[in-house]
Amino acid sequence: MSKRWFQEHQRDTWRRQARSKGYRARSAFKLKQIQEKFTLIREGDLVLDVGCHPGGWTQVSVEETGSNGLVIGIDLLACAPVDGAHLVIGDVTDKISQETILELLQGGSKVDGSTLPEIGGDETRLFNTIVSDISPRLTGQYDRDQAISLELVAMVFDFTLPLLATGGSFVTKIFQGTGIEGVVNAAKQRFSRVQRFSPEASRNSSSEVFLICKNKLPKPKKGFRGTTVAQELDSHLESEGIIQSNEPEPETEVKSGFRRIPKKE
Ligand SMILES: C[S@@+](CC[C@H](N)C(=O)[O-])C[C@H]1O[C@@H](n2cnc3c(N)ncnc32)[C@H](O)[C@@H]1O
Repeated sequence: MSKRWFQEHQRDTWRRQARSKGYRARSAFKLKQIQEKFTLIREGDLVLDVGCHPGGWTQVSVEETGSNGLVIGIDLLACAPVDGAHLVIGDVTDKISQETILELLQGGSKVDGSTLPEIGGDETRLFNTIVSDISPRLTGQYDRDQAISLELVAMVFDFTLPLLATGGSFVTKIFQGTGIEGVVNAAKQRFSRVQRFSPEASRNSSSEVFLICKNKLPKPKKGFRGTTVAQELDSHLESEGIIQSNEPEPETEVKSGFRRIPKKE
């Protein structure tokens, strides 16, 4: 039995289960298993689902928050409506998307024609939990895909953390490989508990893991290297010699997904 056959078989099993339970994607089980272990979402919570298309994680989030909660999903792609959720089409790393989400939190606008539930008078409530299964369009070249995905995850942190309440939780998919420690360390400056978790539904199928961040701190701990997660990732990559600022034209090169840098003799 080849490894590839086994991986395909595993995926099919989750796909069949998803179909039989009415979930739009097998990835729904990844969030269900994360939720079983860490209870990131509670009844009545406000949840942001980043990279929500086709809606599997949104469905699970709506189940967990119940009728008193609110789930907002955002994706570059239009997603078929999910009962109980507000879905936004947009790039999460775009300031306009951030503003749209804030407006939704304030209850000031209608995205899909329906009216938002009242969520707390004049004072804007922030999200209790942010879940992100975001993934760039993959090229199949692992180094490149992993690097792009890591940079995207850093940007998701930077764009969405201002919308997360103190004490809130954040979970994101992340691909293992070069530079991952830069993002993990940046997360540790901002949350009191950070750990990696590999749900059964994604085991054996890829090198993805989920970064589980609990209890957002009121402000980042002292001593961090940059003001944003993206800057901290860059500083980490520089300190590891993976990227260099103002690099000269290389003669011999080391290949990395981030940038090509001169080989150290
Ligand atoms: C693996 S899918 C998410 C699957 C989803 N969690 C589910 O259960 O149905 C990753 C999604 O991230 C979205 N994405 C990638 N870059 C994005 C960006 N900059 N802003 C918003 N969504 C993005 C993609 O369009 C894609 O739909």
